[in-house]
Amino acid sequence: MKTLCFGSLNIDNVYHVSHFVSRGETLAANALNIFSGGKGLNQSIALSRAGLEVYHAGAIGSDGQFLLDELKQAGVDTRYVRILDDTRTGHAIIQKSEDGDNCILLFGGANQKITPDQIDQTLENFSEGDLLVVQNEISELGYLVGSAKKRGMLVALNPSPMEDSLLPLLPLVDYLILNEIEAAQFLQLDQAAYPEFMLSELLRQFPNVTIALTLGKDGSIYAGGSQLIRQNAIIVQAVDTTAAGDTFTGFLLAGLMKGDGPAAAMKFAAAASAIAVTRLGAAPSIPMRDEVLRFLES
Ligand code: RIB
Repeated sequence: MKTLCFGSLNIDNVYHVSHFVSRGETLAANALNIFSGGKGLNQSIALSRAGLEVYHAGAIGSDGQFLLDELKQAGVDTRYVRILDDTRTGHAIIQKSEDGDNCILLFGGANQKITPDQIDQTLENFSEGDLLVVQNEISELGYLVGSAKKRGMLVALNPSPMEDSLLPLLPLVDYLILNEIEAAQFLQLDQAAYPEFMLSELLRQFPNVTIALTLGKDGSIYAGGSQLIRQNAIIVQAVDTTAAGDTFTGFLLAGLMKGDGPAAAMKFAAAASAIAVTRLGAAPSIPMRDEVLRFLES
């Protein structure tokens, strides 16, 4: 089985701030770091470090070459990433507060230049039973998911950032990994309701999907088939929560694809994301599989 992560590649500009800047305020940052990021790139690295054979597809400008280097170093095959001459690489402006929290402003750049032609040419190399992993930071997502499904691929969706345009994709999705706010938006609720209620509503509407609902410090819940599994969060001193969700998604899917069983896969994912938040940056914070296993043993 091959895994194709078709998603964003971003240059993350991370500003260390005492508090998030508010309307009309001018605030001096204490430091600036530039990291590799993008939900797509982060999830490819997490999937690969967790032990899967991973191909990344997407687009960058000529200013984003170091993103490809980071993917390659993590063992990800980048042959389906296009380098566009006339477009800037996508980027994120991230404010990181002292307690590790963040807020993110995205500029799509090349991520929004994905075409049906690139999708067709990439998917020709994948077939029934292969896994497609997607987020919501690229153009032509609906065409991508529909085409992958026609080929018999499994589809995993991390609906971030959440938009109503994702609603029609849900019947095509096999694995849905989302947080409480995204779940509430899928159900057209004004705010998050009890997690168990949101899960049962999602499963009532889409009975064939396997769901992992992340709840921050309250852990996560897996619901698939007849199984409902609750995983506690592993409490650590957070330095930077950027890419914690991406790390969780990659390690969970890798555990499930490798046949570890949902309880073990959820634990694997919780441990990997706990390690990630103790480090600065998105992609550079994602741990290796062996490190996660040692962390769990200890
Ligand atoms: O999930 C974290 C990621 O979101 C960052 O790396 C940033 O680039 C945005 O895509």
